[in-house]
Amino acid sequence: MKKINVAVNGYGVIGKRVAEAVALQKDMELVGIGDVAADWRIKTAAQKYAVFANTEEGHRAMVNQKIEVAGDLNDLLDAADVVVDCAPKKFGAQNAEKYRQAGVKFIVQGGEKHETTGHSFSAENNYTLAIGRDATRVVSCNTTSIVRTLSALKRAGLLNKARGTLLRRATDPWESHKNGIMNTLVPEPEIPSHQGPDAQSVDPNLDVVTAAVKVPQTLSHLHYWTVQLTKEASKDEVLEAFGSSTRTAFINMSDDLSANNAVKELMLDLGRPHGDMYEVAIWKDMLKVEGDELYYAYLVDNQAIVIPETIDAIRALTGIESDPAKSIKKTNRSLGIRQRFI
Ligand SMILES: NC(=O)c1ccc[n+]([C@@H]2O[C@H](COP(=O)([O-])OP(=O)(O)OC[C@H]3O[C@@H](n4cnc5c(N)ncnc54)[C@H](O)[C@@H]3O)[C@@H](O)[C@H]2O)c1
Repeated sequence: MKKINVAVNGYGVIGKRVAEAVALQKDMELVGIGDVAADWRIKTAAQKYAVFANTEEGHRAMVNQKIEVAGDLNDLLDAADVVVDCAPKKFGAQNAEKYRQAGVKFIVQGGEKHETTGHSFSAENNYTLAIGRDATRVVSCNTTSIVRTLSALKRAGLLNKARGTLLRRATDPWESHKNGIMNTLVPEPEIPSHQGPDAQSVDPNLDVVTAAVKVPQTLSHLHYWTVQLTKEASKDEVLEAFGSSTRTAFINMSDDLSANNAVKELMLDLGRPHGDMYEVAIWKDMLKVEGDELYYAYLVDNQAIVIPETIDAIRALTGIESDPAKSIKKTNRSLGIRQRFI
C-alpha cells in the first residue's frame, strides 16, 4: 500500500503531537517538519525528523544554532501529499496561500477561520464531506468537544438545544512563564462566546450557545452544560448516547477523579505521551437528568483532543479511507484511545 506523505508545518504544542501521531500510522509517512524558530523545541525535533526552514530568517537562525536544515518550505511541500499547518493563529491562513500555489492538500487548525478552507472538520460528524477536498480546518479543542458530545446526543435523537459555560485554561504549560493570568478570572466580553457559532460551522443545525471564562491554570478546559432534550429520558439513555462516541470516556468523582490535576496524573500513569487525553472525559456520577433536562460537566485536554481528528482529516482529504468508522478505529487503536480508563 502506498503511504500518504505528510508534512507538519509549525512544530509547537499541536504540531509536535501531530508529528508523533502521524509517525504511528501504518498508512502515513512523516516527511518532515517546518518552522521558523531555532530554540530547544526545534533542536529536539531535529533529533527525530527532517527540519525545514520556512523563512530565510528562520533558516539563518537554525544554521546559527547548528540545526541541520533539510530545505525550505517549497522543498517540504514538494515531498508531501498533504501538509498539516500547526502555525500560530492567523499564520495558517497566510501559509494556506503558499499551499494552494504549490498544489498541495492542506489542513489548518482551529485558530483559523472557517473561510480559510470552506470546510470545518470533526471526524464523527462530517468525515465524508471532507473526502477528496483540497483543504479542511480541524476545529478548535473546545469546539471539537462540543461537536463530539452534542453529535452523540443528536444521533440518539435526544438533542433539542444546548447551553454551555466553558472554563478555559489560561495558556499552555510549556509557556506559562511567558503568558497566562494569575489571581483573576477573565470572562469573554460577549455572549455567545465564539465556540458555539464555531460548532455550527461543522453542523449548522446545532442549537448551541456558549459563554466562556479564562481561569488561572494550564491543565485543561472544563465545560458545564445544560441540555434540553427532545423528550423525557433516563440517565442510562443519555449515558448510552454519549457512549456511542468512541472518543468520549466516563470518569467518576467516586474514584477521586474529582479535579483536572488528578485526571492529568491518571493519563501520565497510563503512559500516555505528554500525559495526553484525546477523549472528552465526562463525569458520570455527576451527570443528572431531570425530566427533559440534562446537566453534565466534562474535561477537555486542549493540547490533545484535536490530534486524532487531524489524523482522520488526513485520511479524508487524501481519500485513502472512505469509511469514517474505519479511519476512526485505526486512529483510536494507534493512539490507545479508550472509553474506560480504569
Ligand atoms: N494549544 C492548544 O491547546 C491548541 C488546541 C487546539 C488548537 N490549537 C490551534 O493550533 C494551532 C497551533 O497552535 P499551537 O498552540 O500549537 O501554537 P504554538 O505557538 O505552540 O506553535 C506554533 C509553532 O509554529 C511556529 N511558527 C510560527 N510562524 C510560523 C510560520 N509562518 N510557519 C510555520 N510555523 C510557524 C512557531 O515557531 C511554533 O513552533 C493554532 O491554530 C491554535 O489555535 C491550539
